[in-house]
Amino acid sequence: MTKTEQKKLIRALNGEVLTRPPFWFMRQAGRYLPEYRKIRATAKNFLNFCYTPDLAIEVTLQPLRRLHTDAAIMFSDILVIPDALGQKVAFKEGEGPVLEPIRNVGQLAALSTDGLHDHLRPVYEILSRLSLEIPATTALIGFAGAPWTLAIYMVEGRGGTECGTARLWDYQDPEGFKKLMDLLEEAVSMYLIQQVAAGAEVLQLFDSWSGVLSENQFRRLVIEPNRRIVERVRSVYPKIPIIGFPRNAGSKYLDFITETAMNGISIDHSVGLKWARDYLQPHACVQGNLDNHVLMAGGDALDSAVIDILTCLSNGPFIFNLGHGILPPTPPENVERVAELINNWTGS
Ligand code: CP3
Repeated sequence: MTKTEQKKLIRALNGEVLTRPPFWFMRQAGRYLPEYRKIRATAKNFLNFCYTPDLAIEVTLQPLRRLHTDAAIMFSDILVIPDALGQKVAFKEGEGPVLEPIRNVGQLAALSTDGLHDHLRPVYEILSRLSLEIPATTALIGFAGAPWTLAIYMVEGRGGTECGTARLWDYQDPEGFKKLMDLLEEAVSMYLIQQVAAGAEVLQLFDSWSGVLSENQFRRLVIEPNRRIVERVRSVYPKIPIIGFPRNAGSKYLDFITETAMNGISIDHSVGLKWARDYLQPHACVQGNLDNHVLMAGGDALDSAVIDILTCLSNGPFIFNLGHGILPPTPPENVERVAELINNWTGS
């Protein structure tokens, strides 16, 4: 067996149905783990932490030791891209990311992909070292934010509930807004291609803010850029498995997966299991979708939610995951319990 053939995550993404499905957790490295908080306290600020290979590698490995997940996701953040393009990005304690907002085409002149690879060299080092350090059965996931979600942070200056400024900019000045989207498409494509060169075996594109869009904007700002990024990455690496995550896209998940031709589709917790099985699974490997709040709650509610997901989705290509990242107050024992339930699963 080759190295790749041993990895359940990659087998599932290539369409195989596995009796015990592969699993990993979004934000599996993070503040819910005491060992993460300890290392995080030694770093000057969050971006610095992400750009320090020794620290980022250590926290990537922490959840593997505890949970024996089928994937290691490199420790980083989607906002390294605006940072690498030249925008001011800061992570404020208790507030999350804060950026100096870009509101018109004139301000785009300050951004450029020229120094992108130089700036992101630590990320590539993290991947190449991890690819040598992780167990032979663990798949290494690289990732990026998709252009619309990056644009939200860049234009709003933070994550927004309505994303009104960016949506309005697109409706009022579609050509200007497209210049920002095209720049991001270029940057994300370059970044993902280099991640594969450095050792990433699977890629995930996070479009966390796609749920706020009308059908028309969803097509232009989510489906089209995601589709073109997949095309560009596959023109260099035709076989690289790619997972999309148009969070909260509802019924638009179906258009997303048929039109982008990704290998995997990550679904949030609001997606109905039977609908995902009947409509999405015929097109791609489904990944998801445990509610991160039931994970925090634990107990019987957690056990039955996990079993419901396994029962409905594990007869097709499937990766067990959450609908969104692990929340900081989550007891690590609850996450360990989920791993135990999946490991004991022998099929429905
Ligand atoms: O374990 C993993 O999943 C890998 C690491 C990872 C992080 N961020 C680490 C992180 C990944 C894949 C991300 C992606 C990310 N970052 C997304 C897309 C997925 C999603 O959550 O919707 C988004 C929108 C961001 C932007 C971002 N980064 C926000 C909104 C925040 C603040 C919220 C929070 O949880 O604090 C961050 C900070 C961040 N990124 C933390 C971690 C572990 C916490 C910061 C800290 O430890 O001080």
